[in-house]
Amino acid sequence: MWQPFPGNQHRLIGWFAYLGTKRLKREVRRVTFYSIQRHRLSNMSELAKTVTGFLAVIYYWIESIVLFFVPVRLKAKDISGELVLVTGAGNGLGRSTALKFAEKGCNVVLWDINTKGNEETAAMLREKGAKAYPYEVDVTISEAVYSAAAKVKQDAGIVTIVVNNAGIVAGKSILDLEEKSIRKVFDVNVLAHFWVIKAFLPDMLEKDRGHLVTISSLAGLGGSPKLTDYCASKFAACGLMDALQIELHADGRKNIHTTVICPFFINTGMFNGATTRIFSNLNPDFVAEEIVTSVMCNKSLVLIPRFFHALYQLKVLMPARSFLALHDATGGTDSMTKFTGRNSKKVQ
Ligand SMILES: NC(=O)c1ccc[n+]([C@@H]2O[C@H](COP(=O)([O-])OP(=O)(O)OC[C@H]3O[C@@H](n4cnc5c(N)ncnc54)[C@H](O)[C@@H]3O)[C@@H](O)[C@H]2O)c1
Ligand SMILES: *[C@@H]1O[C@H](CO)[C@@H](O)[C@H](O)[C@H]1NC(C)=O
Repeated sequence: MWQPFPGNQHRLIGWFAYLGTKRLKREVRRVTFYSIQRHRLSNMSELAKTVTGFLAVIYYWIESIVLFFVPVRLKAKDISGELVLVTGAGNGLGRSTALKFAEKGCNVVLWDINTKGNEETAAMLREKGAKAYPYEVDVTISEAVYSAAAKVKQDAGIVTIVVNNAGIVAGKSILDLEEKSIRKVFDVNVLAHFWVIKAFLPDMLEKDRGHLVTISSLAGLGGSPKLTDYCASKFAACGLMDALQIELHADGRKNIHTTVICPFFINTGMFNGATTRIFSNLNPDFVAEEIVTSVMCNKSLVLIPRFFHALYQLKVLMPARSFLALHDATGGTDSMTKFTGRNSKKVQ
């Protein structure tokens, strides 16, 4: 005779006997709402807040589904005439992003340690008819950030959109990373964001208007080989923005928005040699266009290309070993094997 659980009937009976026991109840509470505060929820006003909160969850969910089908030009906010700050504007994605903002009628403040590249970006912006304000600033030095910010306010006015874009990568296995290099990656990729936000947020609060943008990475949402320091710093940048968004929300700051951008590899030279088997690297111009559109639509988290939103959801649903296998399937596992970064001149 076929048996569903050969030799295990006693266990099955055991499970049925288990249903309804105190132990099961305890187990359910342990994995679900062990910490529900009944005494607080029995207070009517606290209960009302909770219920309206949950209704708002559903409302915004529906609103977002509806907005998804509304064309960008109908839902996007007007950003013409705004003053945008882009860090790391002397090259790559920073330059492309500055140009896209200029095309939308913004004036742009450009910060970089690469003065020559930064001046080139400024010239390109002026050619498009935008005002450009280039400054040599090392964003890792907090005093330099604060004094440059004061100068910007004098020279150009109040910045209403800040793009924390400057970033660096080492591309080594954890045991090959020197301590100094690890600290530097954190200095540029996340700590600098604190100095820049602290410099510009006060005026945004005063004006009750502003937008803080962080260029993180897909490496800020999932791991990658030879990028332990980089991933950790990018996760930190995502964490900073996640917490800041909630902090602003808690203060009722509806008009100060945050956007986190998480792109795949981009052809800027920073990740020269890095590649995966099935996804091709992105063009900085395309990424910059997505950044500006996301700002205009007040998007809070944007994965580029958008297809990666699906993989990101899967990461939560999949068992860990399946997710590792997915890295093997797509070539993510070997993505950094041929990495040379800026050591190679070739921009592929
Ligand atoms: N290139 C990619 O594949 C890729 C993918 C995902 C995310 N990103 C992120 O996008 C951002 C831009 O990357 P990119 O590819 O344009 O890099 P890039 O190297 O081409 O440009 C970065 C710019 O930042 C500047 N910079 C570095 N340290 C600085 C400092 N301390 N102060 C001021 N400026 C400084 C550099 O001089 C350079 O001009 C980075 O945050 C990077 O982590 C890049
Ligand atoms: C974006 O935010 C601005 C300012 O808070 C608001 O006026 C605009 O309607 C918002 N747009 C979208 C698409 O959410």
